[in-house]
Amino acid sequence: MCGIIGAIAQRPVEPILIEGLRRLEYRGYDSAGLAVIDGSELHRQRAVGKVEQLAQRLAEAPLAGHLGIAHTRWATHGKPSEANAHPHLSEDRVAVVHNGIIENYAELREQLTQKGYHFASDTDTEVIAHQIMEEMRQGLQLLDAVRSATAKFKGAYALGVISPTCPDRLIAVRQGSPLVIGLGISEHFIASDIQALLPVTQRFIYLENGDLAEVCGDTLRILDAQGSPVDRPVHQSGLSAGSADRGQFRHFMLKEIHEQPQAVAETLEGRLGTDAVLDGILGPGSEELLARVRSVQILACGTSYHAGLVASLWIEGLLGLPCRVEVASEFRYRRHAVMPDCLLVTISQSGETADTLAALRRAKTEGYLGSVSVCNVPESSLVRESDLVLMTHAGPEIGVASTKAFTTQLVALLLFTLSLGRHQGLDATLAASLVDHLRALPKMLERALELDAPIEQLSTLLADKHNALFLGRGGHYPIALEGALKLKEISYIHAEAYPAGELKHGPLALVDADMPVIVVAPNNRLLEKLKSNLQEVRARGGELLVFTDDPEALGADAHTHVLSVPSIDDWLSPIIHTIPLQLLAYHTAVLKGTDVDQPRNLAKSVTVE
Ligand code: G6P
Repeated sequence: MCGIIGAIAQRPVEPILIEGLRRLEYRGYDSAGLAVIDGSELHRQRAVGKVEQLAQRLAEAPLAGHLGIAHTRWATHGKPSEANAHPHLSEDRVAVVHNGIIENYAELREQLTQKGYHFASDTDTEVIAHQIMEEMRQGLQLLDAVRSATAKFKGAYALGVISPTCPDRLIAVRQGSPLVIGLGISEHFIASDIQALLPVTQRFIYLENGDLAEVCGDTLRILDAQGSPVDRPVHQSGLSAGSADRGQFRHFMLKEIHEQPQAVAETLEGRLGTDAVLDGILGPGSEELLARVRSVQILACGTSYHAGLVASLWIEGLLGLPCRVEVASEFRYRRHAVMPDCLLVTISQSGETADTLAALRRAKTEGYLGSVSVCNVPESSLVRESDLVLMTHAGPEIGVASTKAFTTQLVALLLFTLSLGRHQGLDATLAASLVDHLRALPKMLERALELDAPIEQLSTLLADKHNALFLGRGGHYPIALEGALKLKEISYIHAEAYPAGELKHGPLALVDADMPVIVVAPNNRLLEKLKSNLQEVRARGGELLVFTDDPEALGADAHTHVLSVPSIDDWLSPIIHTIPLQLLAYHTAVLKGTDVDQPRNLAKSVTVE
């Protein structure tokens, strides 16, 4: 999704801005641009495609200047093109970078056109530049002009604004889309994601909704939504610039797949006692709230939704509590009945997904007992707006396709289930054994990663196919869904997942030698049923790729490829079985030569509807 970076410094800012854009690339984008103020002049360069294209243009014609803003764009209004790329200008006197959406832009565009403003793009952003210019024409200085203009905008957005009329300041606005200020020594920065600024600072101020900041080299002034000066706390980030490096790995995604044992260990850290989950892992006051829960509603999108599906089986299966799961983009728009004494759980790696946030905001008015967020970004909107939080400690995830964020979500959700279980009569011996299995999980994940090489070989069976079918049962059906999503996202092979018992009700008609069938087949009480499903595929000449902890029971043959996954308790087995499907998607995509870390049309953090 779109990324913003801005800088005001005593040194030239172009290299800082370009490096920042490179570090935002993982979020997904289709064009990039940069504007700087040099003396009394505004200069801009933009390019469609990768940041590298922009960097090449700048290498040919460098831009000097100590104040600048830059942007990676993910098209919402208007196709990806140079004309639609940010920054957008008004009369070479205002330059704007923008994340989010101005909902009433059509109406404002009409008014500004009548006043004689010329529009050079199809974006909603250009309205912002012209509206600020219009306020300046009415005699306002840049800061007041931005304030007056934003009062006319409807929507969720973050802005960076510069003008040669004020060559010593950068204006930043946060209204519903994330924006941080990075603090340096006699230099300051803004960005939509701290990743962009890690090479220049580790000290950050997170703007609140409605905040407007005037950022100068030595000073910083923040006004709140009412226009009153406010102090916001300074956070010292534990992240370093190196945390976004690929190291020895060919892609961030592969690195992140291999980081899962460590990420899971960090998510468990400080949360497990000898034979139970520690008290209060969801924060102060959480135990009292958990004691009152009689039902659970989970909301999430994408991969996080799949984590929610697994969690619902834990909550119902282990605790006997009713638990519903729904994609946030549906929930937010339909009339729904709130279950009695219901706890709302949102799951999001980014904490900024627009649909999940909107669903949470709506649900908060509907009589839920309270809200819990399972999230990977501590200062995100979702975390700030939820009553209780259970952080995953996956560390930054750069690959657009979520891997370690997903497995750490699963771990956090099992911890959550066990916390809830303390108040819901979960048998103490069962809880203690699950705690033991959780403690052993990082080692088991390491063993599952040893499948990397055999799965690389197996991926040759998929790389030339156009379709694939994934099957699973029980808690492994969401894992099949996640496996299919991973394959779609990065290899562009059409993939669908079915609960294996549904095969005969439709998808079996598709099975032939060109339709590989990938099966998650743990040795549990459903294995015999699953074996019958496999026979149905075999009988139609389908190619089977089977992941199981009981290879003997499955019987490999020329068209049945069986890979052995480490055996673990059935409740945790979905977590282990995730690994081979991630590796399968990864190696298939590499064979196909797609852009694994930044797949086409997708974004890491979807902050628009
Ligand atoms: C995007 C990402 C997915 C992610 C989904 C939900 O589509 O590409 O990987 O699962 O958003 O994101 P969230 O941050 O809420 O988990």
